[in-house]
Amino acid sequence: MAGDALDPGIRFLPEARLWVLSAGEMSYVFGVNEREELQHVYWGRRIRRDRDWSPAASLPQWDGVDPSTNTTPEEYPGWGGLRFCEPCLKVVFADGGRDLVLKYVDHALQDRDLTLHLRDLGCDLQVDLGYHLDPSGILRRQATVRNGTDHPVVLESAQSAVWHLPQGPDCHLNYLSGRWGEETRPTREEIHPGSKVLESRRGSTSNQMNPWFAIEGPGEDATEEHGDVWFGALGWSGSWKLVVEQTPRLDVRVTGGMSDFDFAHPLAPGESLTTPPFYAGFTARGMGQASRLFHRFQLERILPRASSGRLRPVLYNSWEATGFDVDQAGQMALAEKAARIGVERFVMDDGWFGARDSSRAGLGDWRPSRRKFPDGLGPLIAHVKKLGMDFGLWVEPEMVNPDSDLYRAHPDWVLHFPGRPRSEARNQLVLNLARDDVKEYVFAALDTLLSENEIAFLKWDLNRNFAEPGWPVVPVTDQRRVWVDQVRHVYGIIDRLRLRHPGLEIESCASGGGRVDLGILARTEQVWPSDNTDAFDRLSLQEGFSLAYTPKIMMAWVTDVPTLNGRVTPLTYRFLVAMTGSLGIGANLLKWTREETDLAARMIALYKSIRAIVQEGDLFRLLSPRKGRVAASEYVARDGRQAVLFAFSHDPQFGREAPPVRLRGLDEEAVYRLRSLEGRLDGPAELSGAALMHRGLRLDLKGDYGAAAVLLERTE
Ligand code: DGJ
Repeated sequence: MAGDALDPGIRFLPEARLWVLSAGEMSYVFGVNEREELQHVYWGRRIRRDRDWSPAASLPQWDGVDPSTNTTPEEYPGWGGLRFCEPCLKVVFADGGRDLVLKYVDHALQDRDLTLHLRDLGCDLQVDLGYHLDPSGILRRQATVRNGTDHPVVLESAQSAVWHLPQGPDCHLNYLSGRWGEETRPTREEIHPGSKVLESRRGSTSNQMNPWFAIEGPGEDATEEHGDVWFGALGWSGSWKLVVEQTPRLDVRVTGGMSDFDFAHPLAPGESLTTPPFYAGFTARGMGQASRLFHRFQLERILPRASSGRLRPVLYNSWEATGFDVDQAGQMALAEKAARIGVERFVMDDGWFGARDSSRAGLGDWRPSRRKFPDGLGPLIAHVKKLGMDFGLWVEPEMVNPDSDLYRAHPDWVLHFPGRPRSEARNQLVLNLARDDVKEYVFAALDTLLSENEIAFLKWDLNRNFAEPGWPVVPVTDQRRVWVDQVRHVYGIIDRLRLRHPGLEIESCASGGGRVDLGILARTEQVWPSDNTDAFDRLSLQEGFSLAYTPKIMMAWVTDVPTLNGRVTPLTYRFLVAMTGSLGIGANLLKWTREETDLAARMIALYKSIRAIVQEGDLFRLLSPRKGRVAASEYVARDGRQAVLFAFSHDPQFGREAPPVRLRGLDEEAVYRLRSLEGRLDGPAELSGAALMHRGLRLDLKGDYGAAAVLLERTE
């Protein structure tokens, strides 16, 4: 029909002065109102008819206390005029003025990229608002703030975006909270009037909160399969903030970006600051589809291009087996065992460098310990390679122990305030990577390591948060740049290393899952979700992780028991739990019995046969480990020809049999051949998609920590 937006993409409707962004299941619409402000109009289910849109018009005032400038949903409100909601931008001008009112100037549209130019009503403070629309319907927003005035200005808050949801009560916010050993705990709560702040003030993403949200509603709860869900995540690995507000009008808005706590970023005339990206999407098909959309987006658009076609190798990591007690002979012996069970990458963790015999010394001195590795890392790496594996190494480049040659030479290289305590955590201090000399030292140390040794993989760790974030040698006005520059320079170092060492892969780790976000994921292949490797806990932790992030990046190790909970689980259970992500082994293989070693070899071979489905397929969370006695998840290959089901049983009682597990994401009409990978499977060897999804599959799950896995293959 003429005048209707049949094609997805970004369209400008000049008469209405509206931009209509449509892709996937959603439309996102905004325009210029009669005050020349950029006003949000709509975000939700796809609306195809252009004539359904009217020009943006500011909302009426609700008494003198809630003026129109406050109730009208702006795309990027400055703090100025009669505005009381969370602002996107707060500026201090050279004369002390702090009023900022942004007006629309013009726009540039090219294919899937739209840029809106805004400017303050009185001076030349400019904002370029960027929108990139992915065909999946995921929208990336970010802003560039430019000081076009002749005087310096200071940004006190520069958020990436505000997202406006449809008006209405009964919205529910889902987010991921936690702490060390218990990251990505899903939390769900009703959104009430006022603001809910999710944040990290720690200088890094944090174990405490993850910069992701999903909102259900209004008026209708979402399930895994049904309901409207608006979701999003930040691409930033420093301090961050998401403010979820319900306004007096019951509008819900989510403002997010770099934390504005202790933030004061100067811009000299002509200088600009680009905010981190903020990605968001919409689906009407429940939390499950929100995750699947985001997973696919990460696989196709976020993760490093260079390795995107590669499946994650099965990895061995020495940390839980040897702690700091690493040496050439011990690591060689572990490597031999690892190779025998089918490991593809051998990673030596902490303890290999400087005077690193415990957490007390050595960080910063990135040369192999001569005592532990008399001839350097060469002989160990050669041995690992001869065994058919590639070699990975642990580093923690942003940190220094006071007991290190680096700190003795450069005590001023750490974040600190003069004359104040330098608080240590895990016996370490944070290097000030905002400084160019420190940044170059770290780059050179890693570059040398990678140039001198055949290292295919770095596990990049970060084991404490910022404190006393001072930078005394620069003018006071520049000191708080650390919040931005520290992160940018870490990104820069990684980018340069990857360029100079193509093929290098990296795992992001921060005392477990303290640095998992879409900023670091653009530069690293995988992450370490938690130091907690208790398989039962892991089921919950991994479920939370999967709400926001793809299982491909989620490293999961099989380790020894008892765990931090004192829990002992069967090795088969531990393997199957780890096989729902990217499989690794962290146990002391030198202590494993013959039976355990054989079982591991069989499991690793099994994993290799299904890992493409797990790592790159679509995840369906069938039964939550947080509810009920059976937990189950299913992965469906991209082409729909195969699927794999994992199920686990806990705390059975009263002789009750486990209920059938109902699958999802299959073709009702198709017939699937069933093959048990682990556990007994009674009943027919073939079933239709309809039977599998509606009647379900009864698995032989018995006892505590029972585990089963089934492969389904579509017949012609
Ligand atoms: C914390 C990490 O999360 C662990 O896996 C391990 O690498 C240690 N650091 C090493 O110090």
